[in-house]
Amino acid sequence: MVSPATSLAEHFHQRTKYDPDTIGRMARGMKGPQPEPYKTYRLGTEIDLKPYLEERDRQPTTPRDRWAWARLSYLLINTYGLTARVATEAGDPFYLRAAPSAGGLYPAEVYLVSRGNALLPAGLYNYQARSHSLWRFWEDHVWQSFQEACFWHPALEHTQLAIVVTAVFQRSAWRYQDRAYRRICLDIGHLLGNLELAAALNDYRPHLIGGFADTALNQLLYLDETTEGAIAVAALADLLQVEQNLPKTVTAQPAPSQTDFPPIADGKLLAYLHQATCLDLASNVRWPTQVEAPPTEPEDKYNFPFCLKIPTRSHPIQWGTALEGLESTILSRRSTRRYSSVNLTLADLNALLDFTYHPEHYQSQGLDATPDYCDLGLIQTFVAVSGVDGLDAGCYYYAPRSQELRQIRFKNFRPELHYLCLGQDLGRDAAAVIFHTADLKKAVATYGDRVYRYLHLDAGHLGQRLNLAATQLRLGVSGIGGFFDDQVNEVLGIPEDEAVLYITTVGQPA
Ligand SMILES: Cc1cc2nc3c(=O)[nH]c(=O)nc-3n(C[C@H](O)[C@H](O)[C@H](O)COP(=O)(O)O)c2cc1C
Repeated sequence: MVSPATSLAEHFHQRTKYDPDTIGRMARGMKGPQPEPYKTYRLGTEIDLKPYLEERDRQPTTPRDRWAWARLSYLLINTYGLTARVATEAGDPFYLRAAPSAGGLYPAEVYLVSRGNALLPAGLYNYQARSHSLWRFWEDHVWQSFQEACFWHPALEHTQLAIVVTAVFQRSAWRYQDRAYRRICLDIGHLLGNLELAAALNDYRPHLIGGFADTALNQLLYLDETTEGAIAVAALADLLQVEQNLPKTVTAQPAPSQTDFPPIADGKLLAYLHQATCLDLASNVRWPTQVEAPPTEPEDKYNFPFCLKIPTRSHPIQWGTALEGLESTILSRRSTRRYSSVNLTLADLNALLDFTYHPEHYQSQGLDATPDYCDLGLIQTFVAVSGVDGLDAGCYYYAPRSQELRQIRFKNFRPELHYLCLGQDLGRDAAAVIFHTADLKKAVATYGDRVYRYLHLDAGHLGQRLNLAATQLRLGVSGIGGFFDDQVNEVLGIPEDEAVLYITTVGQPA
């Protein structure tokens, strides 16, 4: 039962839990045909980005402007472009993208806002994944209004381009109803993970902006707020411009928390939560110009007395000369559909954890040592090990600062994982199942109900790093957004305050 003092975010989480008793009702959906996963505009002009994908030998042989176009073209295809074609019985092929998406429904849309530079005249652009082009649908100066909508975020003072990721809610709600909001934010987190790495490949640095005036931004982009809304913004610093090498700053802003809300009907929860977690121009938002370093490194959250501790320090994954391996990994990543019964090595698991939680180990290879998240300090990681050589089967807490796995329960959980993942074989057959969790009450106390977006964006972002590390190591990997929420905690021994946000399975592909 939800107590009266429960915040809206907790209420939403509670109401959208899958439970063995209610799953039948919650799994109903899919009324009418699947919404189209692409946007079309009637007015505007197209800028084809495909020709620049041939500029493999970018600098120094490529002329400067073509090279600049190639950087933007690669940035976008690596972030959210089409990367595979799947034939269907109905005739029309189905396309998969660089970022995974729950159910392949692709609710996210990517927009570029330009202040006006040599490459892109001022205006608004929609990334058309289907044709790998930009659609310029607004030809005027909007940067100042955009800055205002982002509460004058300091990164926008110096940058000339920004990315806005929006969600067309019904694309995902069509199948997943209200719980779609979780998956939409996880999807966008994956996309932001690609953006972070694709930016490093192309000499950009995205500065994440999670706090913005929603309606002002939606109106700026001409979104229909009844169906679509901005979820994340990233100022895109061009690292080849000295003045755009900017300090890291705060990314997330609090919004109020509601504890007094009317009864909300099933099917209306998603829209209610989204609307209620919007900021407006009158919100009192101030950005610090720089992040203050914490006086002491925060400790790992859980330390169980006398538990078995397994060090996870690892050699960094090698991404090849000029990070070529990273680009090919982003473009070839796929969600594994079936695992074999072959175990993972402990070295592989350690390398996955290293890439995901220790970006600072990858600075010497040209990656960002401190990429932006909304607030990673809110997220915890647990790993259910079923088939890792050298590691007892059981459930572990991953302590990122100490770089060790701390055992919570000894047991081979394969049958339970099958059940917890709604009977999906991926859960049972994976060598390791990774859970991202957060203490929702504490998170809401810091950021209000808007934290629900932040937590899922960050969990998705971590999920994308896990996906890419696994792909590079020739392992299989897949996200799982459908699970019996409370039972995961009970069965695996994950503390009950930790709301499960997301699951990533890894193993040897069949
Ligand atoms: C948030 C999220 C949740 C997902 N949940 C599941 C799941 O429960 N079961 C599953 O088999 N795949 C799941 N997937 C994988 C998608 O089905 C997959 O990304 C999509 O079909 C596109 O294929 P691709 O990842 O190979 O590009 C999930 C992916 C994401 C990003």
